[in-house]
Amino acid sequence: MASTQALYEELLDSWRKAVLLGSVQNQLGWDEQTYLPPGGAAHRADQMSLLAGIVHQQLTTPRLGELISALETADKPPGSNGLLDANLREARRRYDRLTKLPTRLVEELTRVTSLAQQNWVEARKKSNFEMFRPWLEKIVALKREEAAALGGGDGVGNGAPYDALLDDYEPGAKSTDVAKIFASLRAALVPLVRAIAGATKRPDVSILTRYYPKAAQAEFAKAAAAAIGFSFQDGRLDESPHPFCSGMGPGDCRLTTRYDEHHFPGAFFGVLHEAGHGLYEQGLDPKAFGTPVGEAASLGIHESQSRMWENFVGRSQAFWKHFYSQAQTRFSEALGSVPREAFYAAVNDVHPSFIRVEADEVTYNLHIMIRFELEQQLIEGQLKPADVPAAWNEQYTQSLGITPAKDAEGCLQDIHWSGGMLGYFPTYALGNMYAAQLFQTARKAVGDLDAQFAKGDFVPLRTWLKDNVHQLGRQFPPGKLVERITGQPLSHEPLVAHLKAKFEPLYGL
Ligand code: CO
Repeated sequence: MASTQALYEELLDSWRKAVLLGSVQNQLGWDEQTYLPPGGAAHRADQMSLLAGIVHQQLTTPRLGELISALETADKPPGSNGLLDANLREARRRYDRLTKLPTRLVEELTRVTSLAQQNWVEARKKSNFEMFRPWLEKIVALKREEAAALGGGDGVGNGAPYDALLDDYEPGAKSTDVAKIFASLRAALVPLVRAIAGATKRPDVSILTRYYPKAAQAEFAKAAAAAIGFSFQDGRLDESPHPFCSGMGPGDCRLTTRYDEHHFPGAFFGVLHEAGHGLYEQGLDPKAFGTPVGEAASLGIHESQSRMWENFVGRSQAFWKHFYSQAQTRFSEALGSVPREAFYAAVNDVHPSFIRVEADEVTYNLHIMIRFELEQQLIEGQLKPADVPAAWNEQYTQSLGITPAKDAEGCLQDIHWSGGMLGYFPTYALGNMYAAQLFQTARKAVGDLDAQFAKGDFVPLRTWLKDNVHQLGRQFPPGKLVERITGQPLSHEPLVAHLKAKFEPLYGL
């Protein structure tokens, strides 16, 4: 019989091939969003689906299943520490997910979501939910089937069906825990949002829609990304309609953004956000590339990094103490006579709004909780897709005190459901809470962050994140990772404390 070491090496070798192929897919996906001429779209779809099929095959071969099973019961070689176990845990998780789903269901989901996305684009443009309703019905039915095939939350029939979907994005997360922490967060946020809405002190946001030339925006955003430590030797920044970050592998991480010459925050904070994702990708251990634990811990942890650099760093007083004079020089027409305090207040404007992606730091999480509740009810069969618009509007009225007048600014605004991505939304709010808790610990660990930021020194924070989060990849499930670093299970309190400390003074509360 082959030695444990030989089996392990065969597993890693096979896994690495799948990850390499997946990175080729990523590369083509990046090209599709940035430089692909429109005429090449159909050919690109053929290339992508061929690769997707090969990757799927590579990760579902019976031999891979045999290797995982054999290693699970084998005597572990001395000195293998926790890495072998972590790789096995992740390999098992992925393999089971991929092999439990019948091929028919996977193909049907791919076909339906591709058509549904096209229909969603049209339905949103026309703000016509009825156009999208049949597609949402099909998708919800298929996702319920998927959850059942995966065996509910823990794979053996325990836990809510929704947990099986959530687990795809946030390994190990349970909807009951998420619901509990969201409820605590909501209880603290709603009064804060109301108080801010009633404040008489308001920032002048018109300064942000003055003329900001595109070339200067691009240079400034690049300079800021480089300052926080994003390496342009190992990455690039391009334009795309929807901003994203794609880590191709060691030494190659791609960011994108979009520019609006009459809206400063979009591109600037967008680039800081994507660069935060990029620092995570660039901070992964290159030697672990291609192993099951060689990637980011979860979407929630990924988002914690982007939101930390975007909001906790990029929208702080200290950050602008360093960068504001540069901004004034680059955008002298728009900002030449604007005091730093007024600019700081404007980029931290808080007001209830309909569109999630434009929401501020305080109201953002309420948008997520609404989607989380609705999609749980859809998967559990308590809410019919036809009743989504009414339920959506009622939730907005209750949580944010505003009611969408049309579905384009209500339940049709996000792409996720049309793409079959149910279970994804909670990771955004979890990311904000992870960010706050990690940032609080970083403050204690690396000294006066504000003083460092004010000098333009971001090395201590970045190094701390690299050592404690990035380098570890997927060695720990997200909840455990945060508990290991901060000494506490995830709590809503650090985020609430951060928001109060920052926004009460800003709004004179
Ligand atoms: Co993000």
